[in-house]
Amino acid sequence: MNPSSNVRFDFSGRSAIVTGASGGIGAEVVRLLHASGAHLVLVDLHPEALEALADELGRERVTLVPGDASAQDTIDAAVAEAVAASGSVDLLLPVAGIYPRSTVAETSDELWERVQRINLNGVFKLIRACIPHFGAGSAVVTFASVAGHRGSQLHAHYAASKAGVIALTRSLAHELGPAGVRVNAVSPGTINTGMVKDLVSDRGESMMAQTPLHRFGEPGEVAAAAVFLASDAASFITGETLHVNGGLFMAG
Ligand SMILES: NC(=O)c1ccc[n+]([C@@H]2O[C@H](COP(=O)([O-])OP(=O)(O)OC[C@H]3O[C@@H](n4cnc5c(N)ncnc54)[C@H](O)[C@@H]3O)[C@@H](O)[C@H]2O)c1
Repeated sequence: MNPSSNVRFDFSGRSAIVTGASGGIGAEVVRLLHASGAHLVLVDLHPEALEALADELGRERVTLVPGDASAQDTIDAAVAEAVAASGSVDLLLPVAGIYPRSTVAETSDELWERVQRINLNGVFKLIRACIPHFGAGSAVVTFASVAGHRGSQLHAHYAASKAGVIALTRSLAHELGPAGVRVNAVSPGTINTGMVKDLVSDRGESMMAQTPLHRFGEPGEVAAAAVFLASDAASFITGETLHVNGGLFMAG
């Protein structure tokens, strides 16, 4: 299933910053935004993967900012490129994240802090840097996880960071709404990307048994939901968390 290959929005003349742009979900978000006319500013740790994606997109309306999305110099460069492209930051999708495996007892301070730095602090710092450049109609879509609602065995650091992303998203919706800026989250379940390879081989069967649609999701299915939230089709939606999980977790 890849709805993002036949869904289109109109983002002509608008800039979009996407972090984690060459990952499984990030690359699908990029393809859909680009096919819908946006100018993309792509951030990821892997320059070669970004170059390959830029080649695939034909090098038009694409600017690459290789680097750590939680580092202030990378953030400043990405914001400057978006502002150069359209005069503002129109769309912001901080997709980058890491999902190491560790019990709480075995989690070092360094690992705990690294997960929070990339999954939560980097999202906060990037959004804060964009605030002066948002305009009415700008939209932020953050990437939470079912783990942020339910907790996660062997991934407490990750679950805590994603719960933080959900609370940050709702708080920002309050703060930025009066300026006409919407802030929403997508919250994926188990999606077929490199991130969850180990999880799927260890506990895939039991997770699938708990999933009403009885399969894992595809990156394009998350991208379609995220880009919908970024689009004017979602113009009265803010502070929302949209679950993309096949029914694995149904929020009240
Ligand atoms: N795949 C899933 O099942 C799943 C489930 C819930 C939530 N999510 C979330 O969706 C997002 C995308 O996940 P994915 O499945 O595409 O993972 P992925 O591992 O395929 O992609 C993650 C990307 O982020 C990049 N990245 C990591 N740290 C970075 C940093 N410091 N700076 C810049 N780039 C960095 C990686 O290089 C990679 O390209 C993540 O936030 C993840 O937590 C994924």
